[in-house]
Amino acid sequence: MAVVAKIVYGTAWKKERTTAFVVNAVLHGFRAIDTACQPKHYREDLVGTALQILYEKHGFKREDLFLQTKYTPIDGQDASQPLPYDPTADVASQVRASVQTSLAHLHTAYLDSVLLHSPLRTLPDTLAAWRALVALRAEGVVRAIGVSNAYEPAVLAALERDGGARPDVVQNRWFERNRWDAGVWAYCVERGIQYQSFWTLSGSPSLLSSAAVQAIAASKKCTPAQVLFRIAQLNGVTPLSGTTQEKHMDDAVAAEKLDFSDVQSAVDEILKIIRA
Ligand SMILES: NC(=O)c1ccc[n+]([C@@H]2O[C@H](COP(=O)([O-])OP(=O)(O)OC[C@H]3O[C@@H](n4cnc5c(N)ncnc54)[C@H](OP(=O)(O)O)[C@@H]3O)[C@@H](O)[C@H]2O)c1
Repeated sequence: MAVVAKIVYGTAWKKERTTAFVVNAVLHGFRAIDTACQPKHYREDLVGTALQILYEKHGFKREDLFLQTKYTPIDGQDASQPLPYDPTADVASQVRASVQTSLAHLHTAYLDSVLLHSPLRTLPDTLAAWRALVALRAEGVVRAIGVSNAYEPAVLAALERDGGARPDVVQNRWFERNRWDAGVWAYCVERGIQYQSFWTLSGSPSLLSSAAVQAIAASKKCTPAQVLFRIAQLNGVTPLSGTTQEKHMDDAVAAEKLDFSDVQSAVDEILKIIRA
């Protein structure tokens, strides 16, 4: 299925402030929310509390929002906290239990997107988890499925060839030090897979301070962060933003309206840096 959001609000590391930030992000224009069933980094339950406030006090409906969560394999969980599944169960049962926990946390009968937080320790385990997501999508519990932290196109190809379905979504680090994940990014663009980026701003300080980005920001009266978000969007990348500031929420949401058609040579210069 097509995943249409142009920017996604990320809820990692917000702890007990998650509720207030998610309510604010939606009131400032975000319509897609990313979380994970991983208590170590995300308060998925408090994303659910925010949703209830948005429905009851602000007139939003479930279908107005795109909700994405993740199944986090045991290596990414903090085993000292209550886990959303029995780690001794088979992988498919773990995925199903994790998704049931997410449905309860988010007070919903379906999820717009569920990702494997990362490939598992072995390819057979990754494929078992993937087939569980494929089945949940067929049952209508989940509308889109994907994978995060998958930096080898071969893993994505294996999901499609041996796991029964092409991912709808990939969520990866997109930043200077991995050369903007060129191989997987191109793989996704060629196949119509939504490529979601994290570390987009914090991971590219040299690019943000480059003359080309600064020049577009000055000419368009926008911020360097908006320039990078917009160039990402125009090139098949859907950025995540986990900002805690209202001004930055407004900037992130407004980025998709920026028209760069008259500054194409500066945009090309930035793409040359990114694709070098
Ligand atoms: N799948 C994974 O393994 C994984 C890993 C990491 C993150 N994620 C997802 O991605 C989301 C985003 O995480 P992130 O690591 O990319 O970073 P982030 O939480 O979006 O923010 C990084 C930094 O950028 C600043 N910032 C944000 N918007 C800005 C703007 N418009 N102008 C200037 N500064 C701005 C933030 O400060 P302010 O708060 O002051 O704006 C913060 O210091 C997470 O919440 C999570 O949902 C997923």
